[in-house]
Amino acid sequence: MRAKVTVVGSGAVGSTTALRLVERQLADVVLVDILEGVPQGKALDLAEAGPIQGYDYQLTGSNDYESSQGSDVVVITAGLPRKPGMSRDDLLLKNAGIVKDVTKNVARHSPDAIIIVVSNPLDAMCQVAKFVSDFPRERLIGMAGILDSARFRTFIAWELKVSVEDTHAFVLGGHGDTMVPLPRYSTVAGIPITELIPKDRLEAIIQRTRDGGAEIVKLLKTGSAYYAPSAAVAEMVEAILRDKKKILPCCAYLQGEYGINDLYVGVPVKLGREGIEQIMEISLSDEEAAQLKKSAAAVEQLVKVLQQNDYL
Ligand code: LAC
Repeated sequence: MRAKVTVVGSGAVGSTTALRLVERQLADVVLVDILEGVPQGKALDLAEAGPIQGYDYQLTGSNDYESSQGSDVVVITAGLPRKPGMSRDDLLLKNAGIVKDVTKNVARHSPDAIIIVVSNPLDAMCQVAKFVSDFPRERLIGMAGILDSARFRTFIAWELKVSVEDTHAFVLGGHGDTMVPLPRYSTVAGIPITELIPKDRLEAIIQRTRDGGAEIVKLLKTGSAYYAPSAAVAEMVEAILRDKKKILPCCAYLQGEYGINDLYVGVPVKLGREGIEQIMEISLSDEEAAQLKKSAAAVEQLVKVLQQNDYL
């Protein structure tokens, strides 16, 4: 049986995700958006690239959720992107309304799906989607850590003039200004980068990673990043559909792990056909633990605002 993935939101992240999924030979893709004609047009364009690119998956565009029925995975990208100078948190209430509505529809049509949330502010939007869908935490996951780690890896490779393929990096915490890149667990061909990169350079790279999304928003002026975000989503979908049991940093609902309760925060997880199959608890130094706590507190602040506005 062919797998089916629905991508809600046919903007830059959504449509590029659809492209990556069929190019990775993963699934039939349904693009859903409220804009009339846009998901249909993008799906048609993507289908017409198939004969050249060598994929023959079905690509469907729709303004309602009927055609998303029974999806294996649903990726939620709907929402407003940032404008220059905005933080991800500035999008909170606008996108909470959109994500709430989308999740209701998704859960009704694909009750057994694994949902991957991409809309920002990511951790808070996961919290909304979990509340609305009541899906178990194994099947409601946020995409952020793979993207943030990929940015970190890129800068590490540039700094050391080595292949990106040799780099491994971990970024924990919320997908915001308080995210926690972990140099101790980041390596080049197995060598911790703390042994390869001087402290001041490492700090500069870490800061650039934290500001990675904003750096691109500032350059583009309209819209935010989508090539790397969509690649990160495709990595998650592939790990799930091919049951790869990959260890990837994802946004997960913590229930006591890392001393955090009932909150979505980025941590390493094992991703397979069941979704999150394990939450990996790695040991943190006092300083790393304090940074993670600070990052969780920042997510908690947003959750409070959502509660005050009746989204949770
Ligand atoms: C970024 C946005 C998508 O980090 O959150 O680029």
